[in-house]
Parts: sequence; structure tokens; C-alpha cells
Amino acid sequence: MNKVIISTDIRTALTQEISELPHDKLFILCDETTRRLCFPLVQSLPCFTGVEPITIPATDTHKTLETLAHVWTELSTAGGTRHSLLVNLGGGMVTDLGGFAASTFKRGIPYINIPTTLLSMVDASVGGKTGINFNGLKNEIGVFNAPHAVILDTEFLRTLDHPNILSGYAEMLKHGLISNEKNFAELLNFDLGNIDYHQLSSMVATSVAIKERIVQADPLEHGIRKALNLGHTAGHAFESFCLQSPTPVLHGYAVAWGLICELYLSCTKAGFPTDRMRQTVQFIKENYGTLPITCDDYPLLYQLMTHDKKNTAGTINFTLLGNLGDIHINQTATREEIYQMLDFFREGL
Ligand SMILES: NC(=O)c1ccc[n+]([C@@H]2O[C@H](COP(=O)([O-])OP(=O)(O)OC[C@H]3O[C@@H](n4cnc5c(N)ncnc54)[C@H](O)[C@@H]3O)[C@@H](O)[C@H]2O)c1
Ligand SMILES: [Zn+2]
Repeated sequence: MNKVIISTDIRTALTQEISELPHDKLFILCDETTRRLCFPLVQSLPCFTGVEPITIPATDTHKTLETLAHVWTELSTAGGTRHSLLVNLGGGMVTDLGGFAASTFKRGIPYINIPTTLLSMVDASVGGKTGINFNGLKNEIGVFNAPHAVILDTEFLRTLDHPNILSGYAEMLKHGLISNEKNFAELLNFDLGNIDYHQLSSMVATSVAIKERIVQADPLEHGIRKALNLGHTAGHAFESFCLQSPTPVLHGYAVAWGLICELYLSCTKAGFPTDRMRQTVQFIKENYGTLPITCDDYPLLYQLMTHDKKNTAGTINFTLLGNLGDIHINQTATREEIYQMLDFFREGL
């Protein structure tokens, strides 16, 4: 299980965690951006004296076997042993790939995650999923293996661009929807245009605790962990749809649009309150805009939904809500219902 530390002083928190783990050699993994913007916040710690970060190219397109092999090579040639320790400093790309590198090097060495994007704070760095993309398939190769600790410090978010803030915030909205009224109301009232980092830190802590609770109940995703798929059946279809266009979108934008669709289905099929749904749709449209699809795109979007890896035996699997926190997993919908959902997405409110 993850040990999640909410930090307001990354240097002290990291020193403490590192001192708890006996090791012969310390490694730190960054991407080119976090090497430049995030590593300086911890660089002068005594434990990093003489330590040059292993640095890999940024973003998901580099979450590949080639990059992984580079990390293994660096660990190996610098004299890493099974008693070494790896710190991953970056977004989900770095924590996924670094977690997998640590899990496989010398049959597994301990690692600590320091997520530096909002998405990786509330989602990618907790839950124990590690891995890489392979043969054009996302997260095709990987293992479940939790880090020794995850240190969350919203200080890192000050350099993160607004689209990536919004991308992570969509997962927080999802966590709010599957938890309760109080958490969700705070999310809808938060001013994303003028971020209060102190308040965001406590909201991140709440959000991660929601994910942790669900992962703990079902670590290998046989049942209730599917709650975390809310917004993702339609969301993944939008994400793949945009990949085929000249303008790909960040994951969280697709999830936010997926939430619009799946809250609509939740209203029509599971009794989710309509006013609550409309309020959420309005918040999402104001902050994320919309995706300009037409009726001609429905067959492709439908096909993308049926190919989602969460499905069994050709039916589309949704997670829906009867209300905030009232989770209905393994729901399905007909083609007609999905087309109506897409009508709502285009014209809703
Ligand atoms: N393991 C899981 O459970 C899980 C869950 C969700 C997503 N993921 C994975 O996470 C990845 C996406 O994560 P992400 O959204 O964090 O993307 P990312 O790691 O690619 O980061 C996005 C961009 O932000 C930059 N960046 C990172 N921290 C920064 C900072 N503090 N200031 C400025 N720029 C910064 C990065 O260099 C990169 O260019 C995907 O590979 C996805 O598959 C994994
Ligand atoms: Zn997601």
C-alpha cells in the first residue's frame, strides 16, 4: 500500500523518506522539463551531492521500451545494485516508467514518487500501476508495484501550464463525483482562474484519499476499482478520436467531456439528479470548452467505445452514478442510448 505524504516542505519530507530506506546508492529520474523546473527545488539536499539525474525526454510519446532501456542502462552502468533507491520526479510519464524501471531492475528496487503534475498527484502516482506503452498500445507492458512513498507538494504546480492543471482537475472532479456532496461542492466552487495553492493542497489530499480508499478495496480492479473509470468510456473514445485528428487533446479534457456524457446516462438510466448534472456540465463547458463533433462522427465514436479494453463480450461497459457517491459499475447502454448521449453532448443544457 502507498504511503502518501502531504508536504509543504519537500526538502524535509524527502530527506525523511530517504533516511528511512537504507540504500547503497541514490538515483533520481526526471524528464527534461522537470530536470529544469523541479529538480532545483531539491538539488541542494545533502543526499543529492554529486548525483546527476537520469534525464529522459518529456511526455507520453517517450514512455517507450527505448526510454526504459536507457534508464536500465544508466542504473546499471552507474553501479546500481538491488540495494539502490530510485526517486521519480515528474508527471505520470516519469512515475509510470520510473516505477516500472525500479520494479524490474535487479528484480526490483524500492522507489519513491514525487509527482509534479496535478494529474500525477491525484491519479498516476498512487495505486501501484507502472508500465510503458508498447507496439502503439497504451500501458501495454507493466506491473502492479506500489512505491515506498508518494510525496505530494503542490509547490511544484506553480510552473505547470493551465491546460495540464485542468487535465488533472478532471480526475479530481471524477473523485468528487464518486465521493460525496461536500467534496464535490468544493470542487465546483474552486476558482481555477486564480489558483489558491494552499486550498488546492488540501483538495489534492482529499482526492488522493478517495482514490486510495477505492484501490485498497480492490487493488487488481475486479470490482469497485471500476468506479475510477467514470467518464473514461466516452472519454477514451474522445481521446482516440482526437488522436486521429490534427489536434490531440490532453487526457483530462477527454475525461471531462466523458463525464458530461456519462452523467447524462446516469440521469437517464440510474436516477442521478438532473440539476446536479446540469451544474457539472456548465462547469466543464466553462473551463474545458467542448469538442466540436457532428452526427457523422457518431459511428466512429461508438466503434471506439466498443473497442475499449474494459469491455467484455462486445458490450460497452460504463460506470454510472445514482447520485454523488452512489456507484453503479458494469452498466451498459444500447447504440440508440449512446447516440442520444452524444446528441446531449453536442446540444446539452
Ligand atoms: N499509473 C496510473 O495509474 C496512471 C493513471 C493516470 C495516468 N497515467 C499515465 O500518466 C501519464 C500522464 O501523466 P501527466 O499528465 O502527468 O503527463 P506527463 O508526465 O507527460 O507531464 C505533462 C507535461 O508536463 C511537464 N511537467 C511535469 N511537471 C511539471 C511542472 N511541475 N512544471 C512544468 N511542467 C511540468 C512534463 O515535462 C510534460 O511535458 C500517461 O503516461 C498516463 O498513461 C498513469
Ligand atoms: Zn484518467
